[in-house]
Amino acid sequence: MAIDRFGRNINYLRISLTDRCNLRCVYCMPEDMTFRPRAELLQDDEVIRLVGLFAELGFHKFRLTGGEPTVRANVVDLVRRMAATPGVDKIAMTTNGLLLDRLAGPLAEAGLRRVNISIDTLDPDRFKKLTRWGKVEEVWAGIRAAEAAGLEIKLNAVIVRNYNDREDLVDLARLTLHQPWQVRFIEMMPFGDVADFQLAGVVGEDELRATIATHLGPLRPVNNGQLDGEASLYQLEGAPGTIGFISSVTHPFCASCNRARLTADGRLRLCLLREKEVDLLTPLRDGANDEAMQAIITDGIWWKPWGHGLAEDVIPLNRVMSEIGG
Ligand code: 5AD
Ligand code: SF4
Repeated sequence: MAIDRFGRNINYLRISLTDRCNLRCVYCMPEDMTFRPRAELLQDDEVIRLVGLFAELGFHKFRLTGGEPTVRANVVDLVRRMAATPGVDKIAMTTNGLLLDRLAGPLAEAGLRRVNISIDTLDPDRFKKLTRWGKVEEVWAGIRAAEAAGLEIKLNAVIVRNYNDREDLVDLARLTLHQPWQVRFIEMMPFGDVADFQLAGVVGEDELRATIATHLGPLRPVNNGQLDGEASLYQLEGAPGTIGFISSVTHPFCASCNRARLTADGRLRLCLLREKEVDLLTPLRDGANDEAMQAIITDGIWWKPWGHGLAEDVIPLNRVMSEIGG
């Protein structure tokens, strides 16, 4: 088991497969984003070796993120190899959905169980404005393909003031009246070069809930308000779906955090919003054996920071979201 010094059992690893993306969402990266050379990224065999080492340490849930994980070559094969690794129980993916049209079936067949698909608005023009060039119809094609493949689906939206904090938010919440989906609103978090924009545009959970309730009626807490993972869940009257809020900024859930992250360039990132990282790539390439690698990992986990420092204006500057994995 990997435990940190606060007694949290860390058993969920989010792996960024690439820092690249086929979109450039305004809140995520600058338009002229530069990406890392591929040689600096974990190669397939290195990802699989690390997954095995983490699984032996008690990690059983894995999520593939990016950038955009589906733009990584061999992503289906990687999922298949992960699924065959002893100790790996659940594999999920966070994706913008653009490539799911052709990949959902093969990914499901390889062992993927769940996808969180990002869709920040249903309106084609505003979708384009937020993603800089995306077509919302392509996301819908991806959602339909994921459904047809039998994947469990959650939809994620980041709400940005003056972009999608009005009708878009309400339209997304309304989907839960007709579909058994979980639609989750994620508070925008500040990173690196984009931090000023993000801090200026953050819309807190209380305001989101109020806007939804004004247009669609009261929101009833699900599970007596207990967190489902990192989300607090609500339901509209008579709705088959649920509405989740992931409010890292205004309602931090650090006390129940069970996750660590592996960046595409092989660093163990202990907290999304803290700069602290442990280099796994260098010892891996220097030929460290399994015990040595696991000692580095458990030591890193032990020193996982308690939580983020946004309330004290401490903002991580060393990477943006796409370089960490969402
Ligand atoms: N704050 C919150 N969520 C973000 N994402 C990207 N950038 C940010 C940010 N600054 C989300 C995406 C996607 C996931 C990969 O992370 O919308 O759902
Ligand atoms: Fe790509 Fe996701 Fe970042 Fe948008 S939020 S640019 S889809 S990684």
